[in-house]
Amino acid sequence: MTILSVEGVSKSYGIGGFFSASRRKIVLSDIDLRIGEGECVGLLGASGSGKSTLGRLVVGIERPDCGSVRYRGQPMLGLTGDDYRVFRRNVQVVFQDSIGAVNPRHRIRRIVAEPLVKLDRLSGRELDERVRGLLETVEIDPGEADKYPGQMSGGQLQRVCIARALAPKPELIVLDEAVSNLDLSLQLAVLDLLDGLRRQRGMAFLFITHDLRLVRRLCDRVVVLDGGRVVEERRVTAGLSFTHPAAVALQNAVLPAMPAVHARVERIAEAAQA
Ligand SMILES: Nc1ncnc2c1ncn2[C@@H]1O[C@H](COP(=O)(O)OP(=O)(O)O)[C@@H](O)[C@H]1O
Ligand SMILES: [Mg+2]
Repeated sequence: MTILSVEGVSKSYGIGGFFSASRRKIVLSDIDLRIGEGECVGLLGASGSGKSTLGRLVVGIERPDCGSVRYRGQPMLGLTGDDYRVFRRNVQVVFQDSIGAVNPRHRIRRIVAEPLVKLDRLSGRELDERVRGLLETVEIDPGEADKYPGQMSGGQLQRVCIARALAPKPELIVLDEAVSNLDLSLQLAVLDLLDGLRRQRGMAFLFITHDLRLVRRLCDRVVVLDGGRVVEERRVTAGLSFTHPAAVALQNAVLPAMPAVHARVERIAEAAQA
């Protein structure tokens, strides 16, 4: 069953100053995308290819110029009342900039509790216990709950944002470069965490990134964007390789830059150990 579908969506932004003739920059053209229950779809593309814009359209922060975004078959723009609340609960988003995504004057406890208070009307001990459980899920010591965002590292804060997104038990989380600012070992830890949630709870993800290695590790399917168009779409298998030049460039970017030098360094290291 499809959770979210994007059909024939285009998006442009007005450019130019107040007094200049209005021109529009086309950022997305005729995009189709589907995310099924429990599926992890990678949205891969170079910087400026339109990934974040598509992410914002999917979670309803922006409207398309034409085409439609549907949540469980219903046009998102037409959702009202209970239907809208169900959508708000079930589709969550985590952005790259975790510092900008939290109120610096709120303690971690309050940040994670926010959706539980708003959507579930939880309070008291029940609320405390849920917050504690969520922090443990993302491997943050619940003893840190009284800290402010400014007292945490970037990696911790990113996990706080993931905990907040998990709080309403969503069906789908859109992760927009959500692990890009973390160092490699933390990236892998967060990916394992997401993969575990997918297996345990059947959660779906739209995983937005410019890094093919992360797609290989987590995703079932990958959609490649270039210049606001879908240029390639593939199942993620061991033999995954692309044919479109923009996709091939992203593939080559993760290969060792100078394999000959790497091989020589390894030989020197081996000789030193012998
Ligand atoms: N609010 C906006 N107003 C004008 N141009 C925008 C706006 N948001 C994004 N863009 C432009 O749209 C293009 C795609 O941006 P974005 O979706 O952020 O790409 P990506 O996330 O792949 O780097 C870029 O050229 C960017 O400058
Ligand atoms: Mg982006």
